[in-house]
Amino acid sequence: MSEPHTNLEHSIDTATGQEAPASVSSERVKKIFTDIAWNYEKFNKYSSFGQYRSWLRTLIDKSPITSDSLMLDIAGGTGDVTFTACERKQPASIILSDYTPAMLEVAQARLDAGEARGVAVELAVVDGQDIPYEDESFDIVTMSYGIRNMPEREKALSEMYRVLKKGGALCILEFSTPPNPLMRLGYRIYLRWGIPAWGKICTGDASGFVYLAKSINAFPDQEGFSQMLRNAGFSRVEYTNVTFGVAAVHIAYKD
Ligand SMILES: C[S@@+](CC[C@H](N)C(=O)[O-])C[C@H]1O[C@@H](n2cnc3c(N)ncnc32)[C@H](O)[C@@H]1O
Repeated sequence: MSEPHTNLEHSIDTATGQEAPASVSSERVKKIFTDIAWNYEKFNKYSSFGQYRSWLRTLIDKSPITSDSLMLDIAGGTGDVTFTACERKQPASIILSDYTPAMLEVAQARLDAGEARGVAVELAVVDGQDIPYEDESFDIVTMSYGIRNMPEREKALSEMYRVLKKGGALCILEFSTPPNPLMRLGYRIYLRWGIPAWGKICTGDASGFVYLAKSINAFPDQEGFSQMLRNAGFSRVEYTNVTFGVAAVHIAYKD
């Protein structure tokens, strides 16, 4: 096991990466996701040209989930990670958590429609930076597109580490940085112009999507985020790029 060495009091503005009180980002992010909850899936589908489903599949396929796994999905939103896990791996149980109740309302509708396929799925309002579960409660913690939106990232990773059992895995899907300079340039242009345009088409308001693009630009690249995971105490830290490194799946263990 690596020794954790992080400042748990550190907080940033998630749009810029600069030091700022946590409330600046937390309140902004909660409002954005409350406003777009029922259009969230449509935006994902169009803005990623349908790629987002294959990224979710890669996340679940790389995650060491078994039929005995007790799984916690942090920042689980409308349930994409949870329901993909139900479809592909059928863990013993999943707590699908998020701190925006409007996103969980959509998840509840999907649960009611049978997307859990018999897996025991429970919904919970949880802040990923202050997790209300006991130490060593879960085999698997998943999170897609959550950590980038959290102003207290060190605290969040330390909380996820705390609630994992020894030998358990943290499995994260997050936007990242294409290593190829030409792809990177194309991606930056798409973030600047394409993402807000899709946001306006899908939800009628581009402002939340201008934030999305800024937060992606301000997020550490694959190596930088891997180092944050090591700093939080995780070992066997690995990542897999998807679609030229536009996003990456990170797997890290608590040994
Ligand atoms: C881009 S959505 C991702 C949702 C889902 N994981 C998916 O892949 O579709 C980001 C989610 O993070 C949630 N979130 C942001 N900060 C959070 C925090 N501190 N604790 C828990 N959830 C948070 C938001 O409410 C939102 O539902």
